[in-house]
Amino acid sequence: MAMRFLNYLVLLLLLLQVHGSISEAEAGNIMVKCTINPSLAELRHLNYLDLSNNIFLDINHIPEFIGYLTHLKYLNLSGLNCGGRIPYEFGNLSRLQYLDLSFNSLRGRIPHQVWHLTSLVHLDLGANKLQGRIPHEIGNLSSLQHLGLVGNYLTGTIAHGLGNLTHLQYLNLSPIYVDGNGVYNLTSDLEWLSHLSSLKNLHLAHVDLSSASNWTEQVSNLLQLEELTISDCNLLPTTSSFSSMPTNITSNSLAVVDLSLNKLTFSIIPWLLSYTTSLTMLDLSGNHLSGPIPEAFGNFSFLEELNLGDNQLEGEMPRSLGEICSLKRLVLHRNNLTGLQDFVSSSTGPRCGLKSIQRLDLAENQITGPFPNLSQFSSLQILYLQDNHLSDVGNATVKCKDRERRALLALKQDLIDNNGVLSSWGNGEEQKECCK
Ligand SMILES: *[C@@H]1O[C@H](CO)[C@@H](O)[C@H](O)[C@H]1NC(C)=O
Ligand SMILES: *[C@@H]1O[C@H](CO)[C@@H](O)[C@H](O)[C@H]1NC(C)=O
Ligand SMILES: *[C@@H]1O[C@H](CO)[C@@H](O)[C@H](O)[C@H]1NC(C)=O
Ligand SMILES: *[C@@H]1O[C@H](CO)[C@@H](O)[C@H](O)[C@H]1NC(C)=O
Ligand SMILES: *[C@@H]1O[C@H](CO)[C@@H](O)[C@H](O)[C@H]1NC(C)=O
Ligand SMILES: *[C@@H]1O[C@H](CO)[C@@H](O)[C@H](O)[C@H]1NC(C)=O
Ligand SMILES: *[C@@H]1O[C@H](CO)[C@@H](O)[C@H](O)[C@H]1NC(C)=O
Ligand SMILES: *[C@@H]1O[C@H](CO)[C@@H](O)[C@H](O)[C@H]1NC(C)=O
Ligand SMILES: *[C@@H]1O[C@H](CO)[C@@H](O)[C@H](O)[C@H]1NC(C)=O
Ligand SMILES: *[C@@H]1O[C@H](CO)[C@@H](O)[C@H](O)[C@H]1NC(C)=O
Ligand SMILES: *[C@@H]1O[C@H](CO)[C@@H](O)[C@H](O)[C@H]1NC(C)=O
Repeated sequence: MAMRFLNYLVLLLLLLQVHGSISEAEAGNIMVKCTINPSLAELRHLNYLDLSNNIFLDINHIPEFIGYLTHLKYLNLSGLNCGGRIPYEFGNLSRLQYLDLSFNSLRGRIPHQVWHLTSLVHLDLGANKLQGRIPHEIGNLSSLQHLGLVGNYLTGTIAHGLGNLTHLQYLNLSPIYVDGNGVYNLTSDLEWLSHLSSLKNLHLAHVDLSSASNWTEQVSNLLQLEELTISDCNLLPTTSSFSSMPTNITSNSLAVVDLSLNKLTFSIIPWLLSYTTSLTMLDLSGNHLSGPIPEAFGNFSFLEELNLGDNQLEGEMPRSLGEICSLKRLVLHRNNLTGLQDFVSSSTGPRCGLKSIQRLDLAENQITGPFPNLSQFSSLQILYLQDNHLSDVGNATVKCKDRERRALLALKQDLIDNNGVLSSWGNGEEQKECCK
């Protein structure tokens, strides 16, 4: 036992030597001397220990003695591939503010001692194999600003105690999802969410939120929120009325919204419209959106990325989409859209047109007619149009752009090339000529 313990110390100090990152200057109060013969008494005063991503360290579990370094304020054991459990002894680290055990292979439950470390500001246990519940006691960690439990096998209902963590700025609870058969092991009604008024980043994926009937209202209370991911969470069309929503949109900061792989309909649009001045990314792919694309999308004037793929959209792409001047990436694949004439002709209108579009994915729709004249899409780099019903190469003007040209050539066998546009593209010579 004593021998093993000594081994750890030697290993540790070796690392402190090898790992130049832990220096007095950087860490402030490290009292460790990198001698061969240290004593525990000296280590006791250690308050900063970072062994993360250390390729020299080959330990199969976290040494318990770290739980006796009671002066520790910062402990980072991320990326060591440690198995085993989180030692109960960690409950002794009452001064700990930063605990990062992410990217290991830790198993078993999170010991309840961890929920008593009330000085914690940053707790990351992500990317392990931890099991069990997120208990009520989590509400004890009321100084917490960062909580990462992503990528574990957590189960049960998320405790409402989470609502106590009013300083939280970052929260990621998404469990590992392997089944693929619709089994969600973690569930929540999100009742705790509206209390987390400091939240800037919220990430929930593969959590069953079908009982969170007023989730839009909960989110609307988070005025600092910048990034929202609620993907594959069984979200249902919202039943809330929007009359009670905060209207001071100048204070909104929500920029990135990913609500993909849920069961939402276009009834979500009025809620999203309260974020028109802040949204830059919106992902509603894989939902139950049906019918024509509402003109209202044209009001998201700052969108750079819009994904409505894998829904049941029908009809023409509206002109309003082409009026989003900032739009760089537009994904509408796997729908039943039939035309894009209005969309394309919006590029000749008085507004900015589609000059910023870089990626346009319209594959697997029902688009008919000749290949559109895309000459105005001067930033276009990637174009997907396969699996539509385009009939004719038309007067395609994209041959000087290599990637568009390849996209078009991929369609070659499906298109009638009356004007011989495609057949004249035999070699790189012509391309060189017209691209000079
Ligand atoms: C721990 O170390 C990893 C890798 O070096 C780093 O990415 C992470 O930000 C650190 N965690 C904290 C809390 O500083
Ligand atoms: C550390 O924790 C263990 C287990 O929780 C406990 O038995 C022990 O008394 C604690 N030691 C100190 C020094 O706090
Ligand atoms: C932790 O929270 C529980 C209630 O959830 C409470 O009974 C207990 O006293 C708290 N412990 C500490 C150390 O704050
Ligand atoms: C919430 O925090 C307060 C103190 O800020 C504490 O008294 C209470 O026990 C906590 N509740 C839970 C559920 O942990
Ligand atoms: C979900 O829970 C079931 C039953 O407890 C278990 O068999 C399964 O492995 C769990 N799946 C995940 C991804 O945690
Ligand atoms: C959400 O609905 C529940 C009842 O279903 C209610 O108790 C709660 O106050 C509502 N939350 C918000 C933020 O409106
Ligand atoms: C709206 O938000 C802005 C910026 O946060 C703030 O300065 C202003 O006082 C708010 N107005 C109202 C009516 O709440
Ligand atoms: C944008 O909003 C205004 C006022 O709410 C409305 O009149 C207009 O039609 C909307 N524009 C689009 C493209 O939906
Ligand atoms: C497209 O329409 C056809 C016929 O109405 C329907 O069978 C198919 O499911 C639709 N596809 C999508 C992706 O909406
Ligand atoms: C291509 O251009 C020719 C003459 O410029 C015009 O007659 C023809 O209608 C155009 N074809 C398509 C499909 O736009
Ligand atoms: C394509 O459209 C542009 C303007 O949008 C026009 O100037 C050009 O003549 C068109 N090209 C063809 C071949 O129709």
